[in-house]
Amino acid sequence: MKHLLKMLDLSKEEILDILNLADQLKYENKNGIEHHILKGKTLGMIFQKSSTRTRVSFETGMYQLGGQALFLSNRDLQIGRGEPVQDTARVLSRYLDGIMIRTFEQKEVEDLAKYGSIPVINGLTDFCHPCQVLADLMTIREFKGRFEGLKMCYIGDGNNMANSLIVGGLKVGMEVSIACPKDYQPAAEVLEFAKGYGDKFSMTDVPLEAAKDADVLFTDVWTSMGEEAETEKRKIAFKGYQINDDIMAVAKADAMVQHCLPAHREEEITEKVFEAHANEIFEEAENRLHAQKAVMVKVMGPQE
Ligand code: CP
Ligand code: NVA
Repeated sequence: MKHLLKMLDLSKEEILDILNLADQLKYENKNGIEHHILKGKTLGMIFQKSSTRTRVSFETGMYQLGGQALFLSNRDLQIGRGEPVQDTARVLSRYLDGIMIRTFEQKEVEDLAKYGSIPVINGLTDFCHPCQVLADLMTIREFKGRFEGLKMCYIGDGNNMANSLIVGGLKVGMEVSIACPKDYQPAAEVLEFAKGYGDKFSMTDVPLEAAKDADVLFTDVWTSMGEEAETEKRKIAFKGYQINDDIMAVAKADAMVQHCLPAHREEEITEKVFEAHANEIFEEAENRLHAQKAVMVKVMGPQE
């Protein structure tokens, strides 16, 4: 595994390998066992959008692995003034051992990987959020003990989270159902991928239908970063696309709830459901650290 650009690139075995290592690193972290596998290495972290979890978990994770991380904001980098990504990639490859990038277009991430000579990790694009979904899968397995036979349901915008959850959920063997408004469906490329899984994948615009008998419920913000100008329009389009008591009533009695955060109470999720499942949601946030450490070891560590 050279990069982590999108879930579509990973095989089921690669996903499970990352999750197994993440579990091990979490256990060792809790038990004071240190691993300086990335001693002397530097990860550059390019942020063209805001972040709390991604920045802090990558920076801390890199430190725990014995390396260091550099926060590179587009407000300071020449990339923010128009320096081509091809040149940025070739320059940074001469200083760094890996790049994490959070940006708008998926192509920018793919180009960094194409023109650079060091591993690239996608820290979120408009198309996908693979680091988040690896942490989500880790959390599901932690709470449910398996993937096979589970139904994952996502309610809301067919955005980067929806795209990555569909691919990740299906690849590890879950049934995946999506409820999103007709004008806000997941990417065509992802729907094409999901077609290959037959009736393991379903999509509707009725949240109650998608949530029926679900073991894990996901949602995400109605307005993602970069779409702020559409906020009011989206509040109307997504009305009803909410995880609330009615949704919980049709899901399995022991259904868990996940949210990548930040969450908007009383929009995509009620305060009541959020707080009732806060334990699972904040474990999910913690697992960003462990899952990303596993990814960094896989792409930047000693190659097998
Ligand atoms: N979930 C997530 O990626 O959070 P941040 O935007 O805070 O990094
Ligand atoms: N869909 C959200 C996820 C944030 C982690 C966004 O892109 O803003």
